[in-house]
Amino acid sequence: MPSLPPLVFLPLLIFIPLLPLESSPHLPAPKDVMVYSYNFRSSLRWSPVKVDRGLVLYTVHFKTGAFNQWDEMNCTRITQTECSFPWSLKERRWTVVLRVRAELGQVTSDWVETDPFVAERNTTIGPPKVNSVTESSDSLLISVTPPFGSEAGDFLQYHVSYWENTTSTTKKAIKTSSTLFKIKSLKEWTLYCFEIQVELMTHSDLHLFGLQSIPECYRTKISEATRAGYIILIFVLVLLFVNLVAVGLFLLWRHHKTIKYWSRPPLEIPSHFEEYLKDPSMPVLEVLDNYAEDDPPDSLSVVFCGEGSQACGSSLDGQAHSRSISSDSEVT
Ligand SMILES: *[C@@H]1O[C@H](CO)[C@@H](O)[C@H](O)[C@H]1NC(C)=O
Ligand SMILES: *[C@@H]1O[C@H](CO)[C@@H](O)[C@H](O)[C@H]1NC(C)=O
Ligand SMILES: *[C@@H]1O[C@H](CO)[C@@H](O)[C@H](O)[C@H]1NC(C)=O
Repeated sequence: MPSLPPLVFLPLLIFIPLLPLESSPHLPAPKDVMVYSYNFRSSLRWSPVKVDRGLVLYTVHFKTGAFNQWDEMNCTRITQTECSFPWSLKERRWTVVLRVRAELGQVTSDWVETDPFVAERNTTIGPPKVNSVTESSDSLLISVTPPFGSEAGDFLQYHVSYWENTTSTTKKAIKTSSTLFKIKSLKEWTLYCFEIQVELMTHSDLHLFGLQSIPECYRTKISEATRAGYIILIFVLVLLFVNLVAVGLFLLWRHHKTIKYWSRPPLEIPSHFEEYLKDPSMPVLEVLDNYAEDDPPDSLSVVFCGEGSQACGSSLDGQAHSRSISSDSEVT
């Protein structure tokens, strides 16, 4: 281009402002243009184009891999920022490319084209719907509905992972193509959680994995054997208890005299006297005499009582107090 003589450019420069507005894209193109596809329901979405004046409209075109020619999609000069795929584009194996542009009066933006979209490769498969769960003592019977209507040639598999609801969880997994299946060999009276994911295998040998379902937890039941065992155990314990009570009552009746004797307060000889009686030569009596002489006057124990001390409650304690105090005074 720089090699061209400047004269050739001159007319171009003059004519540019006079060109029809349609071919001069002054309008910003739509942004965030994406194909959203969930369970094979697909639509094109984009962010709105903001302008100061007027209402921006959008037009969407499509072309398929087979025909490679842009065509209208029943989304011509629409105000919404979404365009659902028509029935004619429901074929999951087709490669579809879409484009969208903004329009304001005669002014249009550039086209924004999507990546090639193949539903059976690009759609997001949701989790299956769990209809019912039937608990028994060693299994969970689960019924599910597939996330989308199957087509001929589709092969759906359910990947079920399950685990015991404890702190140390090791997940186990089973695969099934049936919508009614059992998780077997479970422990009784145990909380189990499971989540399910769909795998779609198409005739073009494509494997498309769906989203995991939200974990659901169910407790297995108690088996009849265990229930019977518990009932027998409780019965035996009750029987044992009744027998013990009966034997106890019988013994009580049989030995009520002895028991009466035992329950009397024991007669004990005070240790001073006991020692004296064993060895009368010991000078225990003198000590006893001293005690008798130095026994504090009654008034002292009265003072203690007056102070509302605990000692006031039992006279024995009071005496012990007064005695220790008197021995203290003896020392000084
Ligand atoms: C657009 O809509 C018309 C009528 O609703 C329908 O006949 C036509 O097939 C649609 N176009 C496409 C591309 O689906
Ligand atoms: C569809 O998937 C292919 C491969 O994963 C990817 O390259 C392409 O961008 C996807 N198409 C769309 C429209 O997202
Ligand atoms: C156990 O179950 C409870 C309630 O169903 C759930 O909130 C929790 O996440 C589960 N724990 C594990 C380790 O799965």
